[in-house]
Amino acid sequence: MNKKTVKDIDVAGKKVLMRVDFNVPLDDDRNITDDTRIVAAVPTIKYLMDKGAKVILCSHLGRPKGEVKKEFSLCHVVGRLEELTGKKVIFAEDCIGDKAKEAVEKASQDEIVLLENLRFHKEETKNDPEFAKELASLAEIYVNNAFGTAHRAHASTEGVTAYLKTAVAGLLIEKELEYLGGALDDPKRPFVAILGGAKVADKIGVIENLLKNVDCLIIGGGMATTFIAANGYEIGKSLCDYDSLDFAKEMMEKARRTGVKMLISSDAVVTKEFAADAPSHIVPVEAIPADEMVMDIGPATRLLFANEIKSAKTVVWNGPMGVFEMPAFAEGTKAVAKALAECEGTTIIGGGDSAAAVKQLGYADSMSHISTGGGASLEFLEGKELPGIAALNDK
Ligand code: 3PG
Repeated sequence: MNKKTVKDIDVAGKKVLMRVDFNVPLDDDRNITDDTRIVAAVPTIKYLMDKGAKVILCSHLGRPKGEVKKEFSLCHVVGRLEELTGKKVIFAEDCIGDKAKEAVEKASQDEIVLLENLRFHKEETKNDPEFAKELASLAEIYVNNAFGTAHRAHASTEGVTAYLKTAVAGLLIEKELEYLGGALDDPKRPFVAILGGAKVADKIGVIENLLKNVDCLIIGGGMATTFIAANGYEIGKSLCDYDSLDFAKEMMEKARRTGVKMLISSDAVVTKEFAADAPSHIVPVEAIPADEMVMDIGPATRLLFANEIKSAKTVVWNGPMGVFEMPAFAEGTKAVAKALAECEGTTIIGGGDSAAAVKQLGYADSMSHISTGGGASLEFLEGKELPGIAALNDK
């Protein structure tokens, strides 16, 4: 990585403002249902504290759109953060102004300051320079460890670097770039990418960029039906991204021309209704009944995909193979997760739904890396520069 990290600077006795991504899912009682992003931030917090820094954490939670909404308060993560770090957390009820300054003053070097949700101020997402300056005034050094938010040019991810000249990456960003960047820049081959999820339109840039890099591109999940339709077959009541039909044809043609293997579902699990208990059966993709819809990849497709994955040296997976939230239609996603778990190469899970799927299915520990970024990992795989990383000091 060509950006400086916390390992390149001296933080002893310094106040460090660290942007983290604590945008974690909460249930109706405001309990954290997946703490992965907090767990992932801990090594950098500990590293900085061990080196003598006073750590001030800032993050967003949800999209409160510039309003103070208690359900989006970061006070909900204090308990978990204390458990995971073994440190006392001083919570500041605002991320700027007197409340923030008082919390920073009050905290000892052995305590962590956590600022209230940045997005309670509309200036955060507007990347307002005055707001960025206020945030920056709390510290002497800036660390960005929020990979999940690195695709946003916000005050706390980009603007703040105009006022804190020492601006470096945390260990999480370093690790994310090592895996995701490593796959794109110098993959061990064969390099296989698996894309799923509902819409082709969301992944146009990713498909285009990956086709330049991979040896094999596997298309499953809801988006496969667009490719099946582009091949001229009926897809019944299945989801279809009709606006992307030409794009799908173009990509299949490009893969043929450039010698990239492209695997698309050959059979599917179909139902008449979108329901967890809907009776299902398996059909070849050339024979999807007009009154039915695709809910999962079929057994022949699972085998085809699994064989390709198992012999790969690098695998990147983004997007489930079917409606995995419904147990009856999770078999395809499960088969792909299992194949990745059995693959001896480097296995990387792009964030979002595929990360949730491997965790839910119990395969998380078998993966080389599970990205903490949803949108950020997709933009990275598209080959885009992430503003939160671009703004950091070069090596
Ligand atoms: C995410 O969950 O993808 C990140 O925290 C970014 O959140 P945002 O899409 O609301 O900017």
